[in-house]
Amino acid sequence: MIYIRSKDEIYKIWESNKIVYETLQMLGKEIKPGVKTKRLDKLAEEFIHNKGGRSAFKGYNGYPATICTSIDEQVVHGIPSNRELRDGEILSIDVGAEKNGYYGDSAYTYAVGEVEPIKKKLMNITQESLYKGIAMANPGNRLSDIGNAVQTHVESHGFSVVRVLVGHGIGRELHEHPEVPNYGEPGKGPTLKAGMCIAIEPMVNVGTYNVFTLDDGWTVVTADKKPSAHYEHTITITEDGPLILSNGK
Ligand code: CO
Repeated sequence: MIYIRSKDEIYKIWESNKIVYETLQMLGKEIKPGVKTKRLDKLAEEFIHNKGGRSAFKGYNGYPATICTSIDEQVVHGIPSNRELRDGEILSIDVGAEKNGYYGDSAYTYAVGEVEPIKKKLMNITQESLYKGIAMANPGNRLSDIGNAVQTHVESHGFSVVRVLVGHGIGRELHEHPEVPNYGEPGKGPTLKAGMCIAIEPMVNVGTYNVFTLDDGWTVVTADKKPSAHYEHTITITEDGPLILSNGK
């Protein structure tokens, strides 16, 4: 079942997402060649704790870190490590936080120094596809209208959307019903209603949409080792349309 959240609950989800947003903003300023992703993880952990929250990811199914840091062909769930960032790489950072029993979740892909045009285009199209998906989150629309809008935009620019990972409902848990795919036919699935809260998170690849998981049990990489980008927002559906809860506003 898909929860309909009260105004009070949505405010709490917004509060957790505000921490997530501010964490991503803070991390964005730290990203440069030579920085270890573990350093970013440490900064995020301290920042979230100072805001009265905790990582939504640490300990989730045994996940070992505060944030996910995924470089180039890594799609999502990269584990922060002593690996240093290099000029020309793209880094996807996923942040989740819980405060007062409610969750926030958002992701952003950053350029490390100067990146080649194809990576720049990948980042732009992926972010645009997220906003195309969000724009479909109106009461009366169907859930699959979101994924259809994402997929249509991505494929019209020659890229592919990952199929095996999806967005999700969010609220009192990090992952709630429904699953929110980034592809599919329009007009299918549950009817969207005011008060629903979902995380929309397109993962977009330059090449094949096929992915696999590394031996660390977490890091998802593209099957052809070509780059991938990931953007995510937590949103709620209102009578007037979608409202983004993870943009710091
Ligand atoms: Co998510």
